[in-house]
Amino acid sequence: VTLDIQPDSQALAVQAADFIAAQVRAKPTLSILVATGNTPMPTYAELGRRAARGDIDFSRVTAVQLDEYLGLSDHDPRSLWGWMERSFVTPLGIRQSIRLADPAAFEADIAALGGIDLAILGLGPNGHLGFNEPPSPPTAPTRVLALTPASLESNRAYWGELSVPTHAITAGMNVILSARAVLLLVNGAHKRDILRRTLEGPETPDVPSSLLRRVPLTVIADEAAWT
Ligand code: F6R
Repeated sequence: VTLDIQPDSQALAVQAADFIAAQVRAKPTLSILVATGNTPMPTYAELGRRAARGDIDFSRVTAVQLDEYLGLSDHDPRSLWGWMERSFVTPLGIRQSIRLADPAAFEADIAALGGIDLAILGLGPNGHLGFNEPPSPPTAPTRVLALTPASLESNRAYWGELSVPTHAITAGMNVILSARAVLLLVNGAHKRDILRRTLEGPETPDVPSSLLRRVPLTVIADEAAWT
């Protein structure tokens, strides 16, 4: 595990953008599993600025969706596909993305791609990854699930007056743990306890993020999350 502490969330974004850009330079056809949520947004914005300046070319990268709510229309503002498109795919100039709609088709699409090269993840307050809520064993597959109270609570922050959908689909722990590299982004004092448990507690399905210690993991956190 590489743990990189940055003074604040903007410095975190620059460091994370450097990490991702280096991977894309090394392999222009990189396949990236893409989290939404608040944490990676400054990183995606930084990458978008670099792409707009012509500093980096994402046109051969494939973006793979990490999770999605069920039962929304394509134009629903809560669609996580829409969020990934607006924040990542479009500003970076990515031409190919894989949508998460059917578990079997999704895992077949990833196999056809040759697997996931890089997973960019945020850290749930209870260690969830995507919608893999505790307990999620390493073999937990891509699946449809009912949102737990913890998922409903942590997702409420995104949608203001709109309700949080009740069902979702998530890339499985199997997909996440088969990534050739994982970049976990963590900011804010509210993530301090779970970051400690992720890196120093027991490796257990009860803290799905602790299972990331089995894969090549880079954590970039701000000081508030690691003091
Ligand atoms: C988002 C996702 C979630 C978030 C996690 C942290 O696609 O899968 O697991 O990464 O809930 O959310 P933030 O970054 O908003 O604190």
